[in-house]
Amino acid sequence: MIEIKDLHKNFDDLEVLKGVDLTIRPAEVISILGGSGSGKSTMLRCINGLEEISSGSVVVDGLDVTKKDELKAVRKKCATVFQQFDLYPHLKVIENITLAPVQVLGVSKTDATNKARALLESVGLGDKADVYPAQLSGGQKQRVGICRALAVGPDYILLDEVTSSLDPEMTAEVLEILKNLANDGMTMISVTHEIEFAREISNRIVFLDQGKILCDLPTADFFSADGGMADPRIAKFLSKMGTGS
Ligand SMILES: Nc1ncnc2c1ncn2[C@@H]1O[C@H](COP(=O)(O)OP(=O)(O)OP(=O)(O)O)[C@@H](O)[C@H]1O
Ligand SMILES: [Mg+2]
Repeated sequence: MIEIKDLHKNFDDLEVLKGVDLTIRPAEVISILGGSGSGKSTMLRCINGLEEISSGSVVVDGLDVTKKDELKAVRKKCATVFQQFDLYPHLKVIENITLAPVQVLGVSKTDATNKARALLESVGLGDKADVYPAQLSGGQKQRVGICRALAVGPDYILLDEVTSSLDPEMTAEVLEILKNLANDGMTMISVTHEIEFAREISNRIVFLDQGKILCDLPTADFFSADGGMADPRIAKFLSKMGTGS
């Protein structure tokens, strides 16, 4: 379980998160929606300590991210997939995936390679193990990014707009894989602008507005006329995104 309590985050004078409370239970799939600059990425980065929190607490399965000696275990539990794949260009696909298991977790190269091959197979990239990232399409790169996140055996996957640099066809490929992961019971926290995807995949939708949670509702309630949509800010956001009717 991830427990975020009264989380504040400032960048100098700018208060970006203004007291966020959020609990994420195992096997939940949560989508974080909200306007640009509302603090979504910052919140995600606070969960695995990529951003130092200003006050409040973030606890992952009893581990406190603010404690240096617990942070490493938190990072092992929470794998992140970014918008810009961040694959190492000089390493082959298989090496990108086995790097962390071998170097950080001390898994043997053979075991890591076998697991990486199985993961690639599961996302339809069994034949791409030995190519370099530059030889892949955007959608393929992002599928490798997902394999790399899964290779460390995380309990939580944090996704930050993983499809926003992809065209619709590649987006569909990646979303299909994430849907399968969700169906397999992976706990996921997904920041996204893909409203339909959020609707399809999530148990809950959290709407962040200017650093505060404006609403945290089961997905069906979020999209209902007397639920989230009753809030004019949410209705406006959804209509701008071309949904919500
Ligand atoms: N490292 C940083 N230093 C200073 N300000 C930052 C830093 N990172 C983010 N911010 C500011 O914090 C605010 C929230 O940024 P954040 O990236 O969390 O927004 P977001 O909701 O993810 O937006 P988007 O939908 O555009 O990705 C913005 O005003 C941004 O300029
Ligand atoms: Mg962002």
